[in-house]
Amino acid sequence: MKTPHKDTDSSSIQSKIENISKELNKELGNTSNSEAISNLKNKYLGRKGSIQSVLKLLPDIEIDDRKKYGKVLNELKTNAENLFENKQKEINKNSKNNSKKNNADLSLPGYPVKFANSHPLTQIKDKIISIFESLGFQIALGPEIETDYYNFEALNIPKDHPARDLQDTFYIKNEFNTYGNNLKVLLRTHTSPVQVRIMEKVKPPIRIIVPGRVYRNEAVDSTHSAVFHQIEGLAVDANVTFADLKATLECFAKRFFGETISVRFRPSYFPFTEPSAEMDIGCVFCSGKGCSICKKSGWLEALGCGMVNPRVFDYVKFDREKYTGFAFGIGIERLAMLKFKVNDMRLFYENDLRFLRQF
Ligand code: PHE
Repeated sequence: MKTPHKDTDSSSIQSKIENISKELNKELGNTSNSEAISNLKNKYLGRKGSIQSVLKLLPDIEIDDRKKYGKVLNELKTNAENLFENKQKEINKNSKNNSKKNNADLSLPGYPVKFANSHPLTQIKDKIISIFESLGFQIALGPEIETDYYNFEALNIPKDHPARDLQDTFYIKNEFNTYGNNLKVLLRTHTSPVQVRIMEKVKPPIRIIVPGRVYRNEAVDSTHSAVFHQIEGLAVDANVTFADLKATLECFAKRFFGETISVRFRPSYFPFTEPSAEMDIGCVFCSGKGCSICKKSGWLEALGCGMVNPRVFDYVKFDREKYTGFAFGIGIERLAMLKFKVNDMRLFYENDLRFLRQF
């Protein structure tokens, strides 16, 4: 019969087992990463681990106790294995959640998006076009490089007219057609040549507007530019009258500047319209009271217009007894300056974002 060793009586085995179980639970509770778990696993379940060291004591005790504690220790082992496995699962789950959080916080507001805006001149052009479209006008376009014929001759601009002056017109070159006629190629000085080009192709009724770039050999200042933009208008049909012209342009002015705008028509002269007029609007700066901008008149010049000169109909072979028409030419820069109260045209071309962002 073996003499029970000090360490190997059953009560000390019992307390060893209780301690292991207590310690294991405590230490496992403080673990938060896989590395610490695998160290603990080694400490308790390893070949030299604490459970193993108690198992080694079993041969030294009573046979009945040996059976009892053998079973208890085996249960402790399986229990410990399960605890480690569950803890590892818990850690894996947390690290997955954490990595999700770190990569993207879906509740954060997005980066602000700066929306691009149309250039103020484009905004004005689009607005003018949409008003005339609502009145039944269609868009037509023509070339910026024109011939003397379309820019001047067919518009009844006589050979000695100042508009043909070298000072006003950019001539490109003298070009001759197959008949040897001088075509005189130039940069169009207005959008009116498109009137002729359309009437050559289309029979009345005609209602068109022609937006486009025009060129004049002029010194640049706060109200002049060598390159600027116009919108031409043309309406031709039987029985078109000056009353139609006035009603159309007055309607346009009200929709463009607002219902309260006042307009007036002043006699003027253009070779391709007869009679011709200029439409003024009540000064938008002083509401017609008179200021330095309207030169104390209370009125600002807005556009040129008139009834199509029958001589132009002769060029495009329209029956001048059957048809009448009106035409108008709007300066886009001019209307933009009036609408936005900008006093220097050059601002529209400099593309300074601090200016452009205001529109
Ligand atoms: N073409 C003229 C200009 O550029 C404007 C205009 C167009 C006048 C149509 C009357 C009719 O000044």
